[in-house]
Amino acid sequence: MTNRIISKLVPATPTPEGKGVTVYRTIASPGFSHLDPFLLLDEFVISPHAKDAGFPDHPHRGFETVTYMLSGQMRHADNAGNAGVIGPGAVQWMTAGRGVVHSEMPESDGDKGDDIRGMQIWVNLAAREKMKAPYYQDIDSAEIPTVKLSEHSWVRVIAGEFDGHKSPVSGIAIRPLYLDINLAAGESIQVPVVADHQAFIYVIEGALENGAAQTSVPMRNLAILDDGDQIKLRGGDNGGRAILLSAAKIDEPIARYGPFVMNTREEISIAIDDYNAGRF
Ligand code: FE2
Repeated sequence: MTNRIISKLVPATPTPEGKGVTVYRTIASPGFSHLDPFLLLDEFVISPHAKDAGFPDHPHRGFETVTYMLSGQMRHADNAGNAGVIGPGAVQWMTAGRGVVHSEMPESDGDKGDDIRGMQIWVNLAAREKMKAPYYQDIDSAEIPTVKLSEHSWVRVIAGEFDGHKSPVSGIAIRPLYLDINLAAGESIQVPVVADHQAFIYVIEGALENGAAQTSVPMRNLAILDDGDQIKLRGGDNGGRAILLSAAKIDEPIARYGPFVMNTREEISIAIDDYNAGRF
C-alpha cells in the first residue's frame, strides 16, 4: 500500500452566497476553480435567528449537488414538485442533469436553536450524463452506516464503502467514496482508495494529521491528497473530524457560468436560453 500525502492545503474563504448566507468556500474560490470531478465545496452556516436567510429559487444544469447536514434542517423544493426536509446527519445526492430550479431554506425548529450547518459539494457529470433527467437520492441519517473504531472514534459512510459497510447511495458514475471521519486525539485510521481517483479531506472540527511528518490540517482547511492507494489520518491534539471525498476524474473540458456547468460555451448559452424560456 502507498500512503497518500498532502500536496496542497487550501484554507476556506468566507464568501457571500444565496440570501444573507456566508459560506466557507474552498473548491471554486479565487485561484482554485475545480478539483476534477469536484466543482465546488462549501461549508454553510446559518444562524437560526437569521430571518429569511437561505438559498431561494435558483437553477442548476450539468452536474450534481450533494448536501450533507451537520446540524439543523434544510427544506428543499423544486419546480417539478419534489420537496422534503434534510435533517442532521442526512445526505441528499441530487443529480440536476438537464435542469432543476429549486430552493434550499433552513427549517426553523425554534426550540433547539442549533446553527443550520452542512456541506455542499458540486460533482461534475460527464458529457454523456449532463442532460439526463433530474434524480434525487435522499438518505436519512439512520440509513447511513456508522463504523465504530473505538470509544470516541467513528466513520460514517455517506457514499461508497468502508470496512465492508456500504452506503445506500447508488448509480453514481464517478464511483464516489464520501466518509465523515471523527478521530480522538492520537487515534488513526487507514482508508483504502482507488489509486488514480482524486481525493481530499476537509476538516470540520479540530484538526487531523497526515503523513510521516504528521502535517496538521486545521478546521476549515481542505487538504488535497497526492497519489497512492491508502489515506492514513490521525486525530490532532484535541481530536478532529473531517469529510473525506474520493472519486474518478472525468477529464473533459469545463465551461462554467454560475449554476450551469457544461463542456462548451455554446452549451452554456443554450442553458441560459433554456432557463430564461422556462424550459428547465
Ligand atoms: Fe442548489
